[in-house]
Amino acid sequence: MKFQGLSLLLCVGGASANWARNINFRSPSEHHPALGVSIHKVVKRTDPSSPWDPSKLNFTHGVASGDPYPDSVILWTRIAPSSDNDHSNVTVSGYAKLYNHDTEEYVSVSKAPVCVEYTVATDDSCEDVVDSGTVYTSSDIDYTVKVEAKNLKPFTQYYYQFTVCNSDNKSPLGRTKTTPHADDDVTKIGIAVYSCSNYPFGFFNAFGNPVRKDSVDYVVHLGDYIYEYANGEYGWGQSIGRIPLPDKQIYSLYDYRKRIATYRTDLDLVASHQQFPWIPVWDDHEVADNTYRDGSSELNNTEDSFIHDGGVSVDQRKMNAVRAYFEWMPIRQVEMDDNLRIWRSFSIGKLVDLVMLDTRQYDRSITDLYWNTEYIHAISNDAGRSLMGSRQENWFYDTITKSSKRGATWRVIGSQIVFSRINESIVFGDEDPLNYDSWDGYQANRNRTLSLLYDNDIGNNIFLSGDSHASWVSDLVWLGEKEYDKTTGEGAIGVEFGGSAVTSPCPYGANISLAQANNYSTWLQTNNDELQWQDLYYRGYYELHLSHDSAEARYFGLPTVVSRNSWEIPIANFTVKSGANKLQRPVAGGVVESGSLKGGKVVQTNLTVDTGNGTWFVSHANLEVL
Ligand SMILES: *[C@@H]1O[C@H](CO)[C@@H](O)[C@H](O)[C@H]1NC(C)=O
Ligand SMILES: *[C@@H]1O[C@H](CO)[C@@H](O)[C@H](O)[C@H]1NC(C)=O
Ligand SMILES: *[C@@H]1O[C@H](CO)[C@@H](O)[C@H](O)[C@H]1NC(C)=O
Ligand SMILES: *[C@@H]1O[C@H](CO)[C@@H](O)[C@H](O)[C@H]1NC(C)=O
Ligand SMILES: *[C@@H]1O[C@H](CO)[C@@H](O)[C@H](O)[C@H]1NC(C)=O
Ligand SMILES: *[C@@H]1O[C@H](CO)[C@@H](O)[C@H](O)[C@H]1NC(C)=O
Ligand SMILES: *[C@@H]1O[C@H](CO)[C@@H](O)[C@H](O)[C@H]1NC(C)=O
Ligand SMILES: *[C@@H]1O[C@H](CO)[C@@H](O)[C@H](O)[C@H]1NC(C)=O
Ligand SMILES: *[C@@H]1O[C@H](CO)[C@@H](O)[C@H](O)[C@H]1NC(C)=O
Ligand SMILES: *[C@@H]1O[C@H](CO)[C@@H](O)[C@H](O)[C@H]1NC(C)=O
Repeated sequence: MKFQGLSLLLCVGGASANWARNINFRSPSEHHPALGVSIHKVVKRTDPSSPWDPSKLNFTHGVASGDPYPDSVILWTRIAPSSDNDHSNVTVSGYAKLYNHDTEEYVSVSKAPVCVEYTVATDDSCEDVVDSGTVYTSSDIDYTVKVEAKNLKPFTQYYYQFTVCNSDNKSPLGRTKTTPHADDDVTKIGIAVYSCSNYPFGFFNAFGNPVRKDSVDYVVHLGDYIYEYANGEYGWGQSIGRIPLPDKQIYSLYDYRKRIATYRTDLDLVASHQQFPWIPVWDDHEVADNTYRDGSSELNNTEDSFIHDGGVSVDQRKMNAVRAYFEWMPIRQVEMDDNLRIWRSFSIGKLVDLVMLDTRQYDRSITDLYWNTEYIHAISNDAGRSLMGSRQENWFYDTITKSSKRGATWRVIGSQIVFSRINESIVFGDEDPLNYDSWDGYQANRNRTLSLLYDNDIGNNIFLSGDSHASWVSDLVWLGEKEYDKTTGEGAIGVEFGGSAVTSPCPYGANISLAQANNYSTWLQTNNDELQWQDLYYRGYYELHLSHDSAEARYFGLPTVVSRNSWEIPIANFTVKSGANKLQRPVAGGVVESGSLKGGKVVQTNLTVDTGNGTWFVSHANLEVL
């Protein structure tokens, strides 16, 4: 706000434009000048007599909205002179040098900042305007714009659009929706749940399908929104025309910006961002593979590692990744001075408290880095280990307790990694049969969570998890501590819905055959009591539909992701009755389309799908035109 006077002088058209209202100038850390952008220095560097020609500016990556509250929502766009990303680094001096794309040189004085207006309305012709504003963006934040639309009504749909000041250069029209007020008696909401969208492994059809069906209110992404690898290291982008740029493992600020920007060219991802408010969290790959508080599997905190990785330290790489993430994602920074905090919660009417965790980057004890699996196995039951760090853990338990006390019907907990104990000795071997990078490597943290729920009789808990590239549906149980009957579900305290990947390949083998995948699923289901349904074959997502009576999870499998298409097979449906704290029996109605179901059967039906381009015959693992 204190820059408003200065800004006024600089604004191209004289409208009262604002720097600080573009949250990306204050993010990721407002009160640590060495980490943030100094608006004052950016202002000094700009040349007000050299404004941008509005016709040379482009809304390069559509629009997005996210983190809905009852009275506000985050809006996002990017308005830039080039679709390429900014090459500078924000330095300790508090601003980025300006990169001139024509001369490929860094210059010390830039043009005036880009000025953009935003409008929020109740109608799609933007006549009934309820909020608007004018903000600046610049190369320092990669020409991104992130604003908070305010003065909104609860559980209401809105439309929004950005316009370059004094021009008719407009962004695409976005649609969004606020959440109900915590005291509102909302009867139902729907959420599409995603994880693991890997660009060189396929098209993001899963994001587009709920847009085409208009079937949910909000989107939750549990992380691995991008992957840091070079295509050659992990991916077959060459064969489907999807090379993630820059085509190398990413380290610098430019690299992370470019990688997210490349992903954001996927038309179904753009469509989802344009139509639904997102509630995202990161997993490991937004920074690097198997990250924890102090490093990752690919980067040790050693001199060797530092030299190997082009002089980027673990900390610098994490800062680059985090800065790019906040610039590009429509996420609300709930604490302007804690640049790593994405754990937060949403009270959605009396119906649900949605609690989003960070079990990865914030303060996680050391994880499985592949060369230390035995060691992590040995310490996995150590009482001192935490996935979240004490600050986040305390907040988590407090939030769950308050949710129960306020009488919210459901507690939905978004966790990057799978919560339930899963014995995978069929592929991991008998020595180290668990995935120690999941909650299985942090048993004390899991016990503390379960003890809170059981000891205080807190029910109606639904864990959502991703990361695994497969589907796992379990009763939520404390194995070894509480009696549990796998047939009736008695003894459980909730359920877990683990979701498959948008495109990342099956963990038991890329391009695995349907028969082989179902063979493994049968083993997993049989050897894990609480695991009621498991599927390895399908890439996909699920929708979670919540009412006061029940929670319904609908899983969708995508027959193929090597082309852009809208095909999907409803592979399994689950019901959880309020107060039951377990999956409704018979689980999935006793029949699923794929995978392996405890006490039930798999019946593969052949579906016909009218794609608008001929009728397609969809059998499992097989597509033919009728
Ligand atoms: C604007 O960006 C879009 C998407 O990157 C691109 O297709 C289009 O050519 C750009 N237009 C101009 C004028 O640069
Ligand atoms: C899996 O399928 C993709 C896409 O068709 C192909 O590019 C890749 O080579 C296949 N990988 C293996 C290991 O067969
Ligand atoms: C930004 O940092 C990267 C390493 O992180 C370096 O390669 C690049 O040269 C830097 N750019 C500038 C303009 O200093
Ligand atoms: C990290 O250190 C371990 C133990 O010395 C080593 O086995 C591993 O290869 C190192 N990884 C990298 C990426 O340098
Ligand atoms: C995992 O399952 C195998 C096969 O049922 C069993 O032999 C082994 O004891 C199990 N391991 C654990 C840790 O439960
Ligand atoms: C967690 O609970 C299990 C089951 O009771 C127990 O075997 C394990 O020792 C506990 N671990 C910790 C650290 O509390
Ligand atoms: C899986 O395949 C193996 C090898 O063909 C076979 O021995 C086993 O019985 C199969 N398991 C199931 C559960 O179908
Ligand atoms: C799941 O529910 C949907 C919608 O009610 C239905 O179309 C589909 O056939 C069901 N799928 C299964 C496998 O039961
Ligand atoms: C589904 O189609 C496949 C051929 O793609 C055929 O082998 C199978 O018998 C069909 N199943 C049913 C239930 O019609
Ligand atoms: C329509 O389907 C045919 C195959 O039947 C395919 O060759 C063509 O590319 C499709 N067109 C579109 C626009 O998807």
